[in-house]
Amino acid sequence: MCLRGVLVILVFVAALMLAVAGPALGVTTRNVAVSKVTGTSAVLVVKSDVTSNVIVEYGQVSGIYTATAAGNGAARHELSLVGLSPSSTVYYRVTIIDAAAPSTSVTLPEKSFHTARAPGEGFSFAVAGDNRPAGDTTVQPAIWGTIVAQMTAENVDLALDVGDIIYGTGSDTLAQNAAKYEGLFAVTTGLTYSTPYYVAAGNHERLNYANSRAGYEQEFTFPVNNGTDGATYGEHYYSFDNGDTHFIALSTEIPGQEGMITGNQKTWLQADLAATDKPWIIVFMHRPLFSGAHTGDPWVNTGNLAGQQNKADIHALLLQYGVDIVFEGHDHYYLRHEQDGIQYVVTGGGGAPISGTPALGPGDVFAAGSYEHVKVDETATSLAVSVIDNTGATLESFSLTVPDLWMSLSPGNPYWGSYADYQARALSVEYTIANNGSGDAFDFQLLSFGATNQVEPLTATPISMGTLAAGSATNLQVTYRIPLGILSFMATSRASCTDDRGYVHVYS
Ligand SMILES: [Fe+2]
Repeated sequence: MCLRGVLVILVFVAALMLAVAGPALGVTTRNVAVSKVTGTSAVLVVKSDVTSNVIVEYGQVSGIYTATAAGNGAARHELSLVGLSPSSTVYYRVTIIDAAAPSTSVTLPEKSFHTARAPGEGFSFAVAGDNRPAGDTTVQPAIWGTIVAQMTAENVDLALDVGDIIYGTGSDTLAQNAAKYEGLFAVTTGLTYSTPYYVAAGNHERLNYANSRAGYEQEFTFPVNNGTDGATYGEHYYSFDNGDTHFIALSTEIPGQEGMITGNQKTWLQADLAATDKPWIIVFMHRPLFSGAHTGDPWVNTGNLAGQQNKADIHALLLQYGVDIVFEGHDHYYLRHEQDGIQYVVTGGGGAPISGTPALGPGDVFAAGSYEHVKVDETATSLAVSVIDNTGATLESFSLTVPDLWMSLSPGNPYWGSYADYQARALSVEYTIANNGSGDAFDFQLLSFGATNQVEPLTATPISMGTLAAGSATNLQVTYRIPLGILSFMATSRASCTDDRGYVHVYS
């Protein structure tokens, strides 16, 4: 038999084996990331190695799917899950079908995530950053895998990353850049099945280069709500709510404005801060306002007058609107700095080489040259912060608390204090004022009383009540003049106090 005949037989045998065994093709999942989670909706990002059709079945009972979302003919899908209930668990199952070979598909095990919480319902979130490789590679640091596993095990509702998540370069092609994000997703997918992962871009994302910027914008799905810059830098800075917290991601990497928050972003930041009525405000961004390892940066270099002015302006803005914690990275260590009651927390120990423990300067509270991440337990009246290293040890813990004043009628109300009071139509009402918060109320003042139906408060204001400790209550008698014939009225009051960080709280 000639050689050609042997080859024909071999090809025939191989084809016969394939026909018996079925195609050896497969679909590989490259990423699943629950994103942009609100109380009633979410976007599920699904990536595969081939062009695929994707079906997501979902519902609010495990194993019972009441809705589907589908996308066809792409390697990266953004599927909208709608009609969800706030403060609830959503269960979903993803099926990925090879578009070129529809009999080839993979159905992933059921996963779940939590929709945004209603006010008053606590939740937890994690913060990490600077998880990039040490050099130009797609492979993420092993330590980052450990930290992601820790955050996954904590079952947090959301994760924030303060940037430097890949090692981008100015010469990356779009494909090379995308491969670096695939290296990241290979680590984070275990987390993002259930936990939205919100990023504030770092300098190593290299957003000042077209391919790197296109890669970043292509690979992530973040809220777009920054107005003027929506069409140009829509996903670069944004805000969202969960529970009693307003989260703001800023970009210190807007091309031409690196190392500062200025221009449209600064204008938007002020408007966004002014618009929120959430008790807690958390800001996260890459470069730190008060940490000095990058001496050339505008906020660090005391010779950069524009940078120093911008630093003062941004701190003043965050202070004016009562920002509680600013999470940052860029410097590869943990450092907490307190400035006028705002906690500035550098959490740059996500996997890039640690640069040692910084010496504490004025306003610095605690530092650690460790791989770490931060976990925050949020309630309406407290933020409990734990800094956890890669072995699971707690490096430091601190809590932010606020008072929460409630005024109610005491039993046995209202009453005429005496016959003379009755003749003068001076009705006494006794109130109980309780501090149901987790923090003491200092300089507690009753600012004014009001009443409807022509009823006139007789008790003079303001009244200084001193300090009302967390968990305690006090009584206060207020007198009203009641016109003849009036049988009921609504009473109002305004009160104020300061918390232990000097922030003023006003209650109506
Ligand atoms: Fe950086």
